[in-house]
Amino acid sequence: MPVITEIEDLRRIYKRRVPKMFYDYCESGSWTEQTFRENSSDFDELYLRQRVAVDMANRTTSSTMLGEDVSMPVALAPVGMTGMQHWDGEIKAAKAAEKFGVPYTLSTMSICSIEDVAAATSKPFWLQVYTLTDDDYMQRLFDRAKEAKCSAAVITVDLQLLGQRHKDHKNGLSAPPKPTLRNMIDLSTKWSWGMGMLSTKRRQFGNIVGHVEGIDDPSSLMAWTAAKFDQSLNWDRIRQFRDMWNGPLIIKGIMDPEDARQAVNVGADAIIVSNHGGRQLDGALSSIRALTPVLDAVGDKIEVHLDSGIRSGQDVLKALAMGAKGVHIGRAYIYGLGAMGQQGVTKSLEIIRNELDISMALCGRRHVTDIDREILLVPEGFS
Ligand code: FNR
Repeated sequence: MPVITEIEDLRRIYKRRVPKMFYDYCESGSWTEQTFRENSSDFDELYLRQRVAVDMANRTTSSTMLGEDVSMPVALAPVGMTGMQHWDGEIKAAKAAEKFGVPYTLSTMSICSIEDVAAATSKPFWLQVYTLTDDDYMQRLFDRAKEAKCSAAVITVDLQLLGQRHKDHKNGLSAPPKPTLRNMIDLSTKWSWGMGMLSTKRRQFGNIVGHVEGIDDPSSLMAWTAAKFDQSLNWDRIRQFRDMWNGPLIIKGIMDPEDARQAVNVGADAIIVSNHGGRQLDGALSSIRALTPVLDAVGDKIEVHLDSGIRSGQDVLKALAMGAKGVHIGRAYIYGLGAMGQQGVTKSLEIIRNELDISMALCGRRHVTDIDREILLVPEGFS
């Protein structure tokens, strides 16, 4: 096993271990992937101010997100089909997050169900909800989340339809993979992934299969989901979801100050400035550039979080310094999961926390809650 010191090490191992179609599904953005790339590269334009002779003893990265105590303000973002990156992937990621003291968000499009994750964990997790047209299904999903004691719902509003990711089309992405010659050749070199999948109970999109009449397998599910994504979504409809869920509500996928104000109006408790990791509107600004105008519009009224592009503790530090109350990571923990299962997710979190802790100290801050814009050199016109 190579020595793992950074998130990039985990990505390399992940690439070797997981079938190409699932690696590509994760490691891609829509169309030209400009936004996907800039989500990360724009962090490099923000420089940190090194400070010296400042007391660095007794540091802490502890904070709160949505009123919950967290060991660092970094949540695991919802990632569809996490259970295809590693067997029981959602359960493994949720357990790692629970042990580490950070929130885990389960995707509507997960392989393991809300009930599977609830049975395997003891602390509440968050449920991500897509905006579908089927009211009965939506209400039942919120009810199931309540029953499972989920402590927040995350409504994703930036996926009324799917931004095309070329690689998924070219690979014929499906879960499980179809037994084509190309897939068989690929799988023959990914035996540890295959053995894991074979050794476990086959789960399939547990938040949907078995909960919608007529949906018994993944192929019927894909057609159902595509038909149910609400292309007519509006803020009145989002307010209806607010009324279906009486717990803390996060709206995910806000990039524009006007939309941020609408999110406040419908009663959200927090928003996530996010472009879905560059998977939806290619050519959109990176999230880190979109953050300041959103904060200017609603920062005093609501908790503002950020995701997209975070690959290190320094990225977390910069996002917090720009004003985010917390950040969410997607690929950074999926690399760990695909590389080494639960242990790998823990490794991703440890890497990020160590980098955050040391970098904040070198900027002269002992508490993550003291991080502010003073520690940054922001180029003119950045946002
Ligand atoms: C996602 N994302 C996502 N978001 C969501 O609300 N529901 C979902 O089911 C998914 N599925 C999903 C799958 C994969 C493979 C990826 C990479 C991402 C978006 C995710 O929650 C988050 O916004 C991004 O991952 C953040 O960008 P980074 O951290 O991956 O760069």
